Amino acid sequence: MPRTAYVNGQYVPHNDAFVHIEDRGYQFADGVYEVVPVLSGKLVDEERHLDRLEYSLSELSIPMPMSRRALQLVCAKVIERNRLTNGFVYMQVTRGVAPRDHKYPKNVKPALVVTAKQTKPQAAKILEEGVAVKSVPDIRWHRRDIKSISLLPNCMAKQAAVEEGAFEAWMVEGDGTVTEGSSTNAWIVTKDGVLVTRKANHDILNGITRLGVLDVAGDTGVKFEERPFTLEEAYEAREAFLTSSTNHITPITRIDERSVANGKPGSVTLNLREAYLNHITSA
Ligand code: PDD
Repeated sequence: MPRTAYVNGQYVPHNDAFVHIEDRGYQFADGVYEVVPVLSGKLVDEERHLDRLEYSLSELSIPMPMSRRALQLVCAKVIERNRLTNGFVYMQVTRGVAPRDHKYPKNVKPALVVTAKQTKPQAAKILEEGVAVKSVPDIRWHRRDIKSISLLPNCMAKQAAVEEGAFEAWMVEGDGTVTEGSSTNAWIVTKDGVLVTRKANHDILNGITRLGVLDVAGDTGVKFEERPFTLEEAYEAREAFLTSSTNHITPITRIDERSVANGKPGSVTLNLREAYLNHITSA
């Protein structure tokens, strides 16, 4: 079935969907985005994703392109028109079209694009064996809490990881602490069995999956701490995993050249994964 995209007020065939060459997203990466998982035709954690979209926009003084309710209706239409059952919706809002000039233009209408993509369930092998991550220096700006479409350092990090056969990159600050993955949040379970992930401030994106996992962590009985952890601590960890809207909870069994513990996905990770999936399917 041909895909349909929403572009600035119109539903158009995905292959014929275009934006203007002077869209500030194209010229300055002046925009933000959301990736919202879809399960059984419904957006997962829709309100939290829209809250984060509104936050990212307000930090950049870009107005919402339409009311929240109208945006929800556009997303529902895009899901329906694409007959999407499981996958994700991508929304992108840019400041709009204006002659190229660094300062924010006055009186422009933000541009909105919404697309949908069907995805296959995660491969069983990934859950059975876990994935590898490669550490790279974190060379990004200091407002990683804004879900900006300016993702070149993230792309460079992911490419470096993939070239070495890893699934994801873990970005590391000058002080040796891990911030997050190129498009995922980073977690470890320490030798003492404590679940650790970085506190959400300007250093990382406050992942919606991250929030969902923290919601269910208490129910699984695991102790958790929100604090930075170093790459060295991760090498010695009992378990590690990553989270995102497109990967849910994915076990990590190798960090650089080292196996995480015995090289198998750990029980805390798998319990959290089950609890998280129950949480989002029952919501
Ligand atoms: N990425 N950190 C970064 C840098 C991200 O880009 C993402 C999401 C996350 C996880 O956030 P969430 O749980 O809300 O998906 C953390 C999306 C999936 C992407 O860029 O495709």
